[in-house]
Amino acid sequence: MTSPDSITLHRPLDMHLHLRDGDMLRLVAPHSASNLAGAVIMPNLVPPLTSVEMLTAYRGRILAAAGPHAASFQPLMTLFFQHYTEAALAAAQPHLFAIKLYPHGVTTNSDSGIHSIDAAEPTLKLMEAMGIPLLVHGETTGFVLDREAEFLSIYGRLATRFPRLRIVMEHITTAAAVALLDRFENLHATVTGHHLVITLDDVAGGLLQPHLFCKPIAKRPEDRDALLAAALAAHPRLMLGSDSAPHPQHAKECCGCAAGVYTAPLLLPRMAQLFAEHGALENLQAFVSDNAIRIHGLNPPDKSVTLARQPWTVPSAYEGDPGLKVIPWEAGRELLWSIQA
Ligand code: NCD
Ligand code: ZN
Repeated sequence: MTSPDSITLHRPLDMHLHLRDGDMLRLVAPHSASNLAGAVIMPNLVPPLTSVEMLTAYRGRILAAAGPHAASFQPLMTLFFQHYTEAALAAAQPHLFAIKLYPHGVTTNSDSGIHSIDAAEPTLKLMEAMGIPLLVHGETTGFVLDREAEFLSIYGRLATRFPRLRIVMEHITTAAAVALLDRFENLHATVTGHHLVITLDDVAGGLLQPHLFCKPIAKRPEDRDALLAAALAAHPRLMLGSDSAPHPQHAKECCGCAAGVYTAPLLLPRMAQLFAEHGALENLQAFVSDNAIRIHGLNPPDKSVTLARQPWTVPSAYEGDPGLKVIPWEAGRELLWSIQA
């Protein structure tokens, strides 16, 4: 149901989410589990998730942290890409949504990422044959504003060499990546909420904003505009993936700020506000759920969330144990839309 002042989203999903572990997991998991029907859980823990045992144990900790929301929240688990045997993949597949590939050293906890795409081919071939999707952090280690653009030819090569492999370009940030989506049928993409709103100017154009610093870094206005246009039009191969990536306040507000923006608590209200602002509310359902369900053949729990044009102030911080504090995107700001109980 959609009116200019309210929308009920059916089975909303976050197709790229960092939940961490331990105290941080306990603090942040309810912010996603309470209002989403499911989320794709990133495997870049320390050490990374590389075995079926680690995967199932982590899934258990996530559901425990989700508490009363666990029954209506489906964690879609991912393994950290490495060279896997067919036997290892077959054992993991029943518990697995996809495998996430990080190039070595491009982002938080990617030290065990791959050094060569060519060397990854045997595992990619197995994934293609078995129908396991490949999620990719597509950045090189080049000049920071060009890292995604430099990776696009690799996406093209992967899409051509593995035509039946379902490839997702994670958290795209450039107009060129949007254009690439239309060139290969097996390429898909997620985009974050914050990359639909901010540009590099918001991060570093005035006083430096550590809570907007993430990988890939926000780009130029024309990039943001192309991402936004594709999202508002509910491009059929584009999905919302928040890349909500919490770090403790002390790891963000320091010399050597960690990359990652914490967006989970305000994800749906902020997206409703954005789509309403642009008169595109009727396309929000496809962007936050239908596209992902169709692309991946998902069957998340039957859960609906109503958002309404009712102001809500984003908390200035979220606090957990012991002394853990995380600053969200839009901290202390009033949003025009909120989740209805
Ligand atoms: C993520 C994190 O903190 O785990 N950071 C980020 O800036 N997005 C990792 C990632 O998705 O790149
Ligand atoms: Zn991420």
